[in-house]
Amino acid sequence: MPGRLNVTRACLAAMLVAVSMDAGFAQAPAAPRPADVESYRTTIEPLFMRGRGGTEPGFASCVMCHTWQTKLRFALDTPATPAGWNADQTRRNFEMITKLVNTGNPESSRLLVKPLAPAAGGLGHTGGTFWQSRNEPEYQTVLKWIRSLPADRYVPAPEPMLDFTFFRSCVQKVFQNPLEGHIRCSNCHGAGLMGFAPLPAAGRSEWNDEEAKRAFAVINRLVVPGNPIQSRFLLKPLHPDGGGSYAHNGVRRWQTRNDPEWQMLASWVRGERTGNSCS
Ligand code: HEC
Ligand code: HEC
Repeated sequence: MPGRLNVTRACLAAMLVAVSMDAGFAQAPAAPRPADVESYRTTIEPLFMRGRGGTEPGFASCVMCHTWQTKLRFALDTPATPAGWNADQTRRNFEMITKLVNTGNPESSRLLVKPLAPAAGGLGHTGGTFWQSRNEPEYQTVLKWIRSLPADRYVPAPEPMLDFTFFRSCVQKVFQNPLEGHIRCSNCHGAGLMGFAPLPAAGRSEWNDEEAKRAFAVINRLVVPGNPIQSRFLLKPLHPDGGGSYAHNGVRRWQTRNDPEWQMLASWVRGERTGNSCS
């Protein structure tokens, strides 16, 4: 009976439309306001492109490090032309960049505190310091833009705290116990900006509290709390085939994210591990 079949088909189609509309309302975030994308395109994107006089941290343009080469969360599209991004790319960049702002508390936005000098309240940044103080015009431009967005719209989930006791008891074990045939992290990460694995001072085999706190501060900079797969600490020593960084001038300690040690560190980064039991 073709008639009946048709009715059934029509019903089905209507149901499908209803279901997909429901799903659409429940899942897809509302589209961004066109004016916000436009102000991003005119005031923020040029800042990412701007040459700063070199290729070193603090002097390289943001796009030099924050495009496809990176597995970080801050990953811009590779500009379609030397002049910059096309409209589709700008939309994607906007989606990504709004994960790095906090419209509920603009000054706390990672987009502001990463390039800011630690002495001025910045978090520290492998890419270097771009703003010495909060008075710098570029900092002010970004802050003003974040303030122009709807205040309740781009608010990140609260970040978990990394537990210091677990760091001392379990994370530092990673630095103490190199895999067979590997050089210790401390050989290359014993001091300076990347010095998350300083050796205990002469005469001791364990770190004292002060040394551990210094190391903890560095590691905090290399972690995105709550987000292990985009945390530099867990990307660099992970094999590229397993989702790690394309390059590390050091060792690859984990082949895949299934490695139990990687898993342990990941749950610490998610704020799920505290105390001194490492198993
Ligand atoms: C020399 C390479 C380099 C340059 C240039 C650079 N960065 Fe970075 N950036 C990094 C690396 C590596 C990280 C991850 C480690 C860290 O957070 O310090 C990072 C992290 C960040 C983060 C945190 C991302 C997140 O997921 O929370 C922000 C925000 C950021 N950079 C902004 C900028 C801005 C803005 C510029 C340009 C003014 C810039 N960076 C230039 C290398 C660079
Ligand atoms: C032979 C020297 C060497 C060893 C050993 C080494 N690394 Fe590295 N590592 C480097 C160098 C050089 C860099 C900077 C260049 C790069 O990113 O590859 C780096 C970068 C890093 C970064 C990013 C630092 C930053 O400021 O953005 C992390 C995280 C890291 N290494 C983790 C580790 C861990 C964990 C170990 C031990 C399991 C380790 N590395 C062992 C040489 C080493």
